[in-house]
Amino acid sequence: MSNETYYIEGPVPETPEPGEYPSPWKTTEVVGTRRPRVDAYERVSGAARYPSDIVLPDMLYGAILRCPHAHARVTTLDVEAARSMPGVAAILTDTDAEAQLKWPWGQGESSPIFVRECLFEGETVAAVAAETPHQAHDALRAIRVEYEVLPHVSDHDAALADGAPKARETGNRQGEVESYSRGDVEAGFAAADVVLEAEYSTPYEIHNPMELHGAVARWDGNRLTIWESLQGVYSSQARLASVLGLPLANVTVSNPYMGGGFGSKLNTSKHTVIAALLAKKTARPVKLFLSREEEQLATGNRPGVTMRLKAGVTNDGTLTAFEFHGVSSAGAYPGGGAGLNDWQVRDLYACDNVRCTNESAFINAGPSRPFRAPGHPQGSWALEQMMDALARAIDMDPVELRLANLTTVSQARGNQPYTSTGLRECLVEGAKAFGWAEATKKPAGSGHLRRGVGVAACSWIAGGGGPPSTVIVKMFSDGSVNLNMGASDIGTGTKTWAAMIVAEELDVPADGIQIENADTATTQYATPSGGSKTVPTESPAVREAAYRVRQQLVALAAEQLGVEPEVLTLGDGRVFKEDDADTGLAFRDIEGLRRRGVVVGVGYRGANPEGKVVNPFAAQFCEVEVNTRTGEIRVLRFVGAHDSGRVLNRLTYDNQVFGGIAMGIGFGMTEERILDANQTGKMVNISLHDYQMPTAMDVPADMAAVPIDLGDSEANATSAKGLGEPVTIPTAAAIANAFFDATGVRVTHTPLNPVQTAALLAAKREA
Ligand code: MOS
Repeated sequence: MSNETYYIEGPVPETPEPGEYPSPWKTTEVVGTRRPRVDAYERVSGAARYPSDIVLPDMLYGAILRCPHAHARVTTLDVEAARSMPGVAAILTDTDAEAQLKWPWGQGESSPIFVRECLFEGETVAAVAAETPHQAHDALRAIRVEYEVLPHVSDHDAALADGAPKARETGNRQGEVESYSRGDVEAGFAAADVVLEAEYSTPYEIHNPMELHGAVARWDGNRLTIWESLQGVYSSQARLASVLGLPLANVTVSNPYMGGGFGSKLNTSKHTVIAALLAKKTARPVKLFLSREEEQLATGNRPGVTMRLKAGVTNDGTLTAFEFHGVSSAGAYPGGGAGLNDWQVRDLYACDNVRCTNESAFINAGPSRPFRAPGHPQGSWALEQMMDALARAIDMDPVELRLANLTTVSQARGNQPYTSTGLRECLVEGAKAFGWAEATKKPAGSGHLRRGVGVAACSWIAGGGGPPSTVIVKMFSDGSVNLNMGASDIGTGTKTWAAMIVAEELDVPADGIQIENADTATTQYATPSGGSKTVPTESPAVREAAYRVRQQLVALAAEQLGVEPEVLTLGDGRVFKEDDADTGLAFRDIEGLRRRGVVVGVGYRGANPEGKVVNPFAAQFCEVEVNTRTGEIRVLRFVGAHDSGRVLNRLTYDNQVFGGIAMGIGFGMTEERILDANQTGKMVNISLHDYQMPTAMDVPADMAAVPIDLGDSEANATSAKGLGEPVTIPTAAAIANAFFDATGVRVTHTPLNPVQTAALLAAKREA
């Protein structure tokens, strides 16, 4: 899987050659400070209109009948009784002419909009639009449907075993075995003083964003408008146009606010097409939002992986070879976001001899979707525990072992150099901030409460951003400023740092800047917010747009003042002579600005440096306390040291680090989709009570972010790299390493919870 495939969809326009970019900031006054979100009031007061808040006049509510079995064939589908239920306006099934469309899952595979051969629990069978949500759900229950239940397979390892039930007609194997190698792995192991091998696994994780998936669809003649909870409006416009057979210009997707996606909303969903079809059929707007149960079945997941990792190291800490084998599944269809499980093994540490193989199966469960750093937390769970075990085997500090194997080139990409590699600083500065040296000397304790510390590091395959992106900044005749960009703010604070950049360039208050974003009808082109690329993609374009306004303001003021533009500068809403602040003009007094009415600056995202790789790096440190009687683990504190380049807003930067750690705690310790593999194949923990996400009780109050900024001016014009994904990659492995430090017990299967730990600790006591 290439790193473009999961966040750029559809035709991508060329970016015009950028003009001269402003040179890197030397000092900044606004950028890098701690600034609350510019839309904080709207968000916390409830005034912000999220897609799920939208209510249109004359609106109907849609609902979807979903297959309740893991694998089944629809034998009878009778909607007659449902049609006469109160409030029902329309019913759609696979026999309706307008539903003869294909939903593209990925890798060239598609399925009908409504399915008879159901491959997973949650597959779409029929849909209803009614006057109220309750009437829509009552009507669903009135649809008479019979299923022939077929044998299912719920687990990727079982699916590839001989004699496994068929997940689908064509067999369970998805694609060929994917392999990668460099160097001579056998020679590498022969040269090692210590060779270790272990099996690791991670279960399927579900995104569970706060705002459910869903959309409101409205037609005006042959023009469709969609309000959907999304990470990218243009990617979704492209897919909707393609599925529905409409010109791009006839599809408007709007999403100024959204309540979380983590990759599951990079693009539109099948249910949105269903909403559009119901709206067309009824000639009324239709709102179709999923329930939390549907969310867990059918909106994506992080694939579980079974991994075998073998590693060799010499006594002086040189890694001599890695061998990795992974088995995983994208679910019943190739939904995206599967793969990259071996990326950390391939690319993070200097190692000449590496061989990786990956197999993928189809299983009878919901299709995967990109999930915050696809494949990376899974691979990191294996690699970073292995690094810890290797360090212990050669009696070396685990931070030192990592420092001994740093690289400045991307080995898995033909040894292309990184524009910057801050992993050393992440390890060194992170260890300092954590108090690693002292903490590792502290005894674990002798009673039943044991303490331990752990470290894990990572890179992220993307996070450099790139074209295309267009941004427009306008200054009106009174000096007020408007920013227009296509990017969605997926909760990370995109609008806030964008306003801060404009404020930096134009010396206007960030809070006063009005922002239009994420609307295909009114804002500029942007790729989805994901891949930790929103900052490095959009921030140079924002900066350039503001800079173009600045240049024009200065030129207009110079003309009026009768001076050369070079002697002028900006500050406090004025243009003035650098060496004589009294000679100047308030923006609103610049005649040229008033004459024009508005000054417009356009910024484009230019190309990345050729032959170089822009990636972020990180190291995280944690301390845990383990109750060896019960197996309970308390995460006491975390330090995340991150080379994500320049910090644009220190407050939302910290938010990302803490949020990523919280999500990593969920991935490592609490979250697991459980299917009833031996009997029904259905998801058994299908609620937020039983599918356990970490709460405030599970996340330490003591968390700190250590930003590492090497001033990467090669990366782009703001020297910022991505942050949102690296913050969650090494978290779980750091906890497992701390657990080992506390107890001497290695836990190689997530979730690292008392169900496992109590038994493992008891077994150790008895051994
Ligand atoms: Mo991310 S998985 O590219 O939202």
